[in-house]
Amino acid sequence: MTKAIRFHQPGGSDVLKYEDIELPPPAAGEVRVRHTAIGVNFIDTYHRTGLYPLPLPATPGMEAAGVVEAVGEGVTRFKPGQRVGYASGFVGAYAEAVNIPAGRLVALPDSISDEVAAAVLLKGMTTQYLIRRIHKVTAGDTIVFHAAAGGVGQIAVQWAKHLGATVIGTTTSPSKVEQCKANGCAHVLDSSEAGWEKKVRAIIPEGVPVVYDSIGKNTFLAGLDCLRPRGIMVTYGNASGPVDPFSPALLAQKGSLFVTRPVLGHYTSTPEELQQTADDLFAVLASGAVKVAINHRYKLSEAAKAQDELTSRKTVGATVLIP
Ligand SMILES: NC(=O)c1ccc[n+]([C@@H]2O[C@H](COP(=O)([O-])OP(=O)(O)OC[C@H]3O[C@@H](n4cnc5c(N)ncnc54)[C@H](OP(=O)(O)O)[C@@H]3O)[C@@H](O)[C@H]2O)c1
Repeated sequence: MTKAIRFHQPGGSDVLKYEDIELPPPAAGEVRVRHTAIGVNFIDTYHRTGLYPLPLPATPGMEAAGVVEAVGEGVTRFKPGQRVGYASGFVGAYAEAVNIPAGRLVALPDSISDEVAAAVLLKGMTTQYLIRRIHKVTAGDTIVFHAAAGGVGQIAVQWAKHLGATVIGTTTSPSKVEQCKANGCAHVLDSSEAGWEKKVRAIIPEGVPVVYDSIGKNTFLAGLDCLRPRGIMVTYGNASGPVDPFSPALLAQKGSLFVTRPVLGHYTSTPEELQQTADDLFAVLASGAVKVAINHRYKLSEAAKAQDELTSRKTVGATVLIP
């Protein structure tokens, strides 16, 4: 038996129950990980509401760190006692322990604490593929990054600045403006204010090469107006709801634009790609160029409260659950 958060039907945070579940020995190819810290991410709320449906009953959570407790047949890459973490290709992290395919785990270096790993793996590997692979952010770029004080935002803004970019960050919460600046934004705009995209054009009349948009419905169309010809809209989240359908002709009118809707799993699809992505993140963390603030800690049993704080825009930086 182990403790886990489960929901038996989709809904509000009240569907999240703290329950005893059976945890069998790890099957062939699996590793039993005893969690020491669990990351809370916006995607956990999409799973809970049914926007991204899961087979029920389900345990949310995609990101955690811990210690290998046992390995299944055929697992040679990990040994009991080793520190590991994960953040893609597995759902069920809101639990004291899990059995997870070995190919989804990364080894943690000594330089990264368990709490930081749990706070940073999903958000930081997402940042890695957003700013190092979809569009390679380089010195001299001016970019738009939405929710610049958030979990992904705090990592992405620091990393993009470290790469030499000028970051135009957004927040809808006046109280987070200073945090956006502290993260490294050269400009901070309120994306809930009509005409925010015109302010981007006032800063950079030719438009930006890339907009990173995790807000979705409320910001997508105005974001297209920030882009220079052949610029790319990276719509990677739905904090305000999914983007409404649109005609590809719009992309022609606005300058032969590109749009991509990426997910982390497709950028970490093999164990090698996963470990490389994590190692790039660990290197920038170890260099000190990116620092992670874990401002919100809850017990595992308080997962509902942790999700409510995230969806009501009360959080700054990362949130972790401690089992
Ligand atoms: N595609 C992928 O691979 C991938 C991977 C990881 C995360 N994501 C996405 O990245 C986003 C950030 O994730 P996170 O866990 O780091 O969350 P977060 O940014 O810490 O929290 C979301 C933030 O969005 C802003 N927001 C603006 N309009 C909102 C609205 N109507 N409702 C709620 N929030 C609103 C709020 O910031 P302000 O108060 O500053 O406005 C809020 O704090 C999420 O949309 C998530 O789904 C995508």
